[in-house]
Amino acid sequence: MRVLIGGGSGFVGRELTRLLGKHGHEVTLISRKPGPGRITWAQLQSDGLPPCDGAVNLSGESILNPMRWWNESYRKDVFSSRIDTTRTLAHAIAASPNPPRSWVLITGVACYKPSLTAEYIEDSEWTPFDLLSRLVKEWEAAALLPENVAQTTKQVVIRPGVVLGRDGGAMKQMLLPFWLGLGGTLGPGTQPFPWIHVRDLAGVIAHSLGPGSSPDGPDVRPGAQVLNGVAPAQNTNYEFTKELGRALGRPTVFPVPAFVLNAMLGSERALVLTHGQRVTPKRTLETGYQYQYPDLGSALKEIVGG
Ligand SMILES: NC(=O)c1ccc[n+]([C@@H]2O[C@H](COP(=O)([O-])OP(=O)(O)OC[C@H]3O[C@@H](n4cnc5c(N)ncnc54)[C@H](OP(=O)(O)O)[C@@H]3O)[C@@H](O)[C@H]2O)c1
Repeated sequence: MRVLIGGGSGFVGRELTRLLGKHGHEVTLISRKPGPGRITWAQLQSDGLPPCDGAVNLSGESILNPMRWWNESYRKDVFSSRIDTTRTLAHAIAASPNPPRSWVLITGVACYKPSLTAEYIEDSEWTPFDLLSRLVKEWEAAALLPENVAQTTKQVVIRPGVVLGRDGGAMKQMLLPFWLGLGGTLGPGTQPFPWIHVRDLAGVIAHSLGPGSSPDGPDVRPGAQVLNGVAPAQNTNYEFTKELGRALGRPTVFPVPAFVLNAMLGSERALVLTHGQRVTPKRTLETGYQYQYPDLGSALKEIVGG
């Protein structure tokens, strides 16, 4: 299979490229920078879609970049790096004489309203309630293919929780303070902490690209098939903190209050850390995907061990 991956040079993309390569698939990245094994977004627009059996978009300016102050220009980058790239790729797929068999977009669980009690599955109704949920709405809308193309190209949207892995994402920023014994719960700690190991997210994406990834029975909903990209385990931020401290053999006695995170990151994006949603991967499991790291203990052991 030939797979085209927008934003494939990043944390999740590297893992997905490794996994697809291991199974003998060929990967071409779409990037802002030219290079071997890549095309640029400008080339995609001018030359059209290169031959491929699957397309994925992982592009996006990091939301939790501690080096950037949360202001209008940052917010604009966060939106356009996701929505414009997604629209460009969807247009290229729609315009191609040979569209791919599958088109997979990775968004996030920010569409589900944070709650201590509500439990969200892929079919849960939601309407935008804040900036990040508006982002998810526009992002997923930008991916939709015209009906005639959608008859042959399977559209999938995967909504991951916090992606945990050794060499990127949130873990990269958390490991040092935890190693130094300065780790602690974020905000109240009782908030749900939806997460997935990066190998499982790559696994769910690869599974979605393949033919046998539909749940049993016809999916009669129009538009994309949604999969929640979270582990089956339901954890709170407190449980995550204690489990990470245990895996590292370090104390976790320094909670970081919500007002400190709000002041450091701006309240709109601090929400990602201080609030959370209980998300279940109901359809993901129904498609037959088998998790390598279904619980926090096994995921953190792989990440911090050896
Ligand atoms: N990591 C997580 O915990 C997490 C959780 C939920 C959802 N997600 C979503 O999953 C996707 C992949 O996450 P990731 O952690 O792999 O992301 P990442 O490593 O931060 O970035 C992925 C790629 O996006 C491209 N990119 C960065 N800034 C850009 C900009 N301003 N304009 C256009 N492209 C830009 C870069 O590719 P080039 O430099 O090659 O152009 C980069 O390698 C993202 O859309 C993210 O929102 C991630």
